[in-house]
Amino acid sequence: MTDQTTATFATCVPGTAPSYTLAVIKPDAYAKGFLGSIIGRIQDAGFVIEGMHHAVWETDVAADFYRAHRERPFFNDLVTFATSGPCVSLILNLPESLTDEDAVAKWRTMMGATDPTKAATGTIRRIFGSPDGPMMHNAVHGSDSANAAMDEMNIIAFGPIRMRSFAPRFLNTTWRARRT
Ligand code: RTP
Ligand code: MG
Repeated sequence: MTDQTTATFATCVPGTAPSYTLAVIKPDAYAKGFLGSIIGRIQDAGFVIEGMHHAVWETDVAADFYRAHRERPFFNDLVTFATSGPCVSLILNLPESLTDEDAVAKWRTMMGATDPTKAATGTIRRIFGSPDGPMMHNAVHGSDSANAAMDEMNIIAFGPIRMRSFAPRFLNTTWRARRT
């Protein structure tokens, strides 16, 4: 069996393929100094950080990132919040996933409900969100599907604010392949 055949076979065996999501530590959690605590929880849960981007987002980046919500009444406030300070975006790989959606599902379970006051005990939003602030001050973002994750990574990695810190194997294989 050639190396290439082995690699192709490996990605077809349940439990041996990576899955991906995009996490963002939002400006509220960043400003409160929760970056390390949140990243520690992500790594303790078994995610591998394949890329990290640290920046204050430009308005057009935030508007594109949240374009699915552009008709919602909170859209302008959301863009203002998202650009209000530094945030950290993480490309997360969940190794040995059963499906492409595993990383998305696991990170969303860890995050908890959108409203920090309704998020379950022990979730990131319950612990690090702002119970007294607007609901959008909920500490973290997570893609809601594998397709959305790829779209969001495209914005963060290849938009005006380029992510330069990919792990080389990720940049050269999965991501490039799926982007075309
Ligand atoms: P996210 O996209 O940030 O991971 O959050 P989510 O899926 O749980 O929630 P989504 O409905 O996608 O909303 C995106 C972000 O918009 C803010 N939001 N504010 N009524 C409000 O004031 C309101 N609703 C949503 C939150 O910051 C939410 O995370
Ligand atoms: Mg969402």
